[in-house]
Amino acid sequence: MSSKIANGWGDNLWPPFTQIASAPSPENVVAGEKALLILENSPPLIDAISSWWVTLHGHANPYISAAISNQAKSLEQVIFADFTHPQAKKLAHRLSEATGLQRLFFSDNGSTAVEVALKIACQWWHNQNEPRSQVIAFEGAYHGDTFGAMALGERNLFNAPFEDKLFPVKRVSWPATWWGDETFEAREKESLNQLEKFLETPTAVVIIEPLVQGAGGMAMVRESFLQSVEKLVRQSNALLIADEVLTGFGRSGSLFAYQRAGIKPDLVSLSKGLTGGFLPMGVTMAREEIYKAFIGEDPKLTLWHGHSFTANPLGCAAANASLDLLEKYPERYTKFEHRHKRHLEELWKHPKVTKPRLLGTIAAFDINVDKKEGYLNPAGRTVKTKAISKGVYLRPLGQVIYLLPPLCLDDSQLEQCYTAIQAGLNEL
Ligand SMILES: Cc1ncc(COP(=O)(O)O)c(C=O)c1O
Repeated sequence: MSSKIANGWGDNLWPPFTQIASAPSPENVVAGEKALLILENSPPLIDAISSWWVTLHGHANPYISAAISNQAKSLEQVIFADFTHPQAKKLAHRLSEATGLQRLFFSDNGSTAVEVALKIACQWWHNQNEPRSQVIAFEGAYHGDTFGAMALGERNLFNAPFEDKLFPVKRVSWPATWWGDETFEAREKESLNQLEKFLETPTAVVIIEPLVQGAGGMAMVRESFLQSVEKLVRQSNALLIADEVLTGFGRSGSLFAYQRAGIKPDLVSLSKGLTGGFLPMGVTMAREEIYKAFIGEDPKLTLWHGHSFTANPLGCAAANASLDLLEKYPERYTKFEHRHKRHLEELWKHPKVTKPRLLGTIAAFDINVDKKEGYLNPAGRTVKTKAISKGVYLRPLGQVIYLLPPLCLDDSQLEQCYTAIQAGLNEL
């Protein structure tokens, strides 16, 4: 059987995160309409995970499409050294106001937004003639697939072939919690003790995914835990990066999850929903004081980092339009948690549902499984297949099922998502 027949990807494509030998054939998508994916040969599907968490307001949103189209008619791209342009300035001003972090550095995606934050943090210490090498991250973390981002992430199946190329990172346990959890206090304490111990060594930077680790299984922590983390980090003078690539732009129910958690990071990485999910773009926000340490006559102080598509005007226009929508309709993200709640409570009654958890637009739970938990656990695939037959696209993380839909999802579509999951659970 030719590979074309076996997998439907054809002879030239090499898809991401996919083992072709066992993957089902991909579907051809001909259009997107709000929360729906319109398929060539099957009925429409609700995109209940926002196409890898990027589609913020909905597919083909006309307001963002028009903003990109208008921008393309005047300036599609320009080198962002020696030149700037109005959309970039506008976006920098707005994100600086929204985050409280004055400086914005552009890159291309979530991984690069993290790489830039890490490089800024490490060079910041270097520029002050006090190089610090220790980096601290959390167990279960995922920060992207470039080498620096991989090094920060949990060591696992995905990065095992590169292990000897990844710089060492001290790792603190992540005290994930859920509805009805009565053990979080001991786990939080243990985690904070580990962090405190590590911070006895001068540390350049600590990186967190605020309130929820996404790829690590939609693992949620309490706001007060992050406040305690911040306190320890401040005592040690290390810098704090909030990787908001997933959580940014309303996903957590607040515009940014660190704001909901009541902490103030030094650096924030953003991507995914930044352009409303229309175009790839990343930004790293930094405190002004950090930026100042890179300014001076000595060329060595410079942040020698950049990308060809830095501040792409189309991406900036999309991001500005997306911010317009967030400003105009804040209730679409602030009220989503409330909309999920009743459905998740109902689902919790199912014997296969354990550890339900909810944060803003993100609802998740684990399937009660006998086999080893983790990305390769097959239970999620069973639920996924059934849900698709009921018109809902899910992409479970092993035994973790979650919903992370676009903000435009209407009530009947939300209901359909939960009904489809219920049907999937009944198959187990
Ligand atoms: C928290 C977090 N950081 C970074 C990334 C990497 O982003 P990208 O896939 O755009 O490189 C992701 C992607 O899922 C993420 O969830």
